[in-house]
Amino acid sequence: MPRTPDPGAASAPVTGTGPVPGPAPTPRRLVVLGAGAVGLTLAARATEAGVPVLLVARGAALERLRTAPVRYADPDGVREVRVPVAAEDEVALEPSDVLVLTVKAQQAEDALTAWAYREVAGGGLGADLPVVTLQNGLDTERAALRRFTTVLSASILVPAQSFAPGEVATAAAGPAAVLTLGPAGAGPHPPATHAALADVAAALVATGCAAHVVEDAAPWKALKLLGNVLNGVEVLAGDEDARAALGREVVEEARAVLDAAGLAVADGAERERAVGAVRVRRTEGWEPGRSSTFQSFARGAASVETDHLNGEVVLLARLHGVPAPLNAALQRVLGRAAARGEGPGSATVADVRAAAAG
Ligand SMILES: NC(=O)c1ccc[n+]([C@@H]2O[C@H](COP(=O)([O-])OP(=O)(O)OC[C@H]3O[C@@H](n4cnc5c(N)ncnc54)[C@H](OP(=O)(O)O)[C@@H]3O)[C@@H](O)[C@H]2O)c1
Repeated sequence: MPRTPDPGAASAPVTGTGPVPGPAPTPRRLVVLGAGAVGLTLAARATEAGVPVLLVARGAALERLRTAPVRYADPDGVREVRVPVAAEDEVALEPSDVLVLTVKAQQAEDALTAWAYREVAGGGLGADLPVVTLQNGLDTERAALRRFTTVLSASILVPAQSFAPGEVATAAAGPAAVLTLGPAGAGPHPPATHAALADVAAALVATGCAAHVVEDAAPWKALKLLGNVLNGVEVLAGDEDARAALGREVVEEARAVLDAAGLAVADGAERERAVGAVRVRRTEGWEPGRSSTFQSFARGAASVETDHLNGEVVLLARLHGVPAPLNAALQRVLGRAAARGEGPGSATVADVRAAAAG
């Protein structure tokens, strides 16, 4: 949806090399919520760069990282990075903190609720701190805006894979990741929001990421969704041609649904011109075709993100009265496989075609 220009908005993208306006006098601490593929990558990069960071972990990742460093692999090699880590109930929030939400989309509502009402030292609540929403899909910003005053909507391009607690491999060369970020919700946004945005962009640039600051991140989230509707296709068994054909149709259907819903889709070439692109290079422990949904299936995760990817397309289709049989079939087949605790490859392209045919 077109927006009225926000007078306080950043007028130029922040690149990996360019200056960033208005850093805060107190460096902000990035409180990274979730020690999965994205959270480990950002926290390890921040630690290496000397950017204040705290990684909030749980379960097996927390247990391992209490005593061992993050095992971080990228095209430059494998490093052990001792990242500051804590369990949720051990964190004392500071007014200069920024919450960086790196949980899966289906976990976002619970995490946002848990952090919004925590006390901040000196007064205030977590809901008063800026929160960066990195989730794929289109829904996290609504859940965040329901509780938080300053929501920085972000879309991250990073080829990160985590198959064991506390371990991550990312094949990114050039920038370590490319993030498009902008204030969620309609403007005009207060100066504090723009200051937080500039601070987060500066911190990301310091970690070796490219930060592409925009007035409205929504069309960039929509663009990302058109890529992420393919995540589920990677999980299916079937020959390459059959998967590629299904993938093309799933994306085409999703594009038609976004169009029917009146959602603008950004042009990826514009970002590439502004801040460059991640290049994928050979990296130990990293293999192509293993999206974050594939990783969830491989780890036997209790839930997968499909309801917020293909399921987002299905939701919009139902709200706007247009068909989305392939996205619905993919969502249904993978939802069933996840509920049964099945791994990648248990469902097939033929299963999805059959479900779509009714
Ligand atoms: N992986 C990529 O390359 C990539 C690239 C671009 C975008 N993304 C997007 O980025 C988001 C994160 O993806 P990911 O691949 O990093 O997911 P992930 O590997 O599943 O990581 C999420 C982590 O958050 C933890 N978590 C969930 N709720 C929590 C809570 N309340 N408190 C503390 N920890 C919590 C999870 O723990 P449990 O295991 O215990 O649930 C898990 O360790 C997704 O929306 C994804 O689509 C991923």
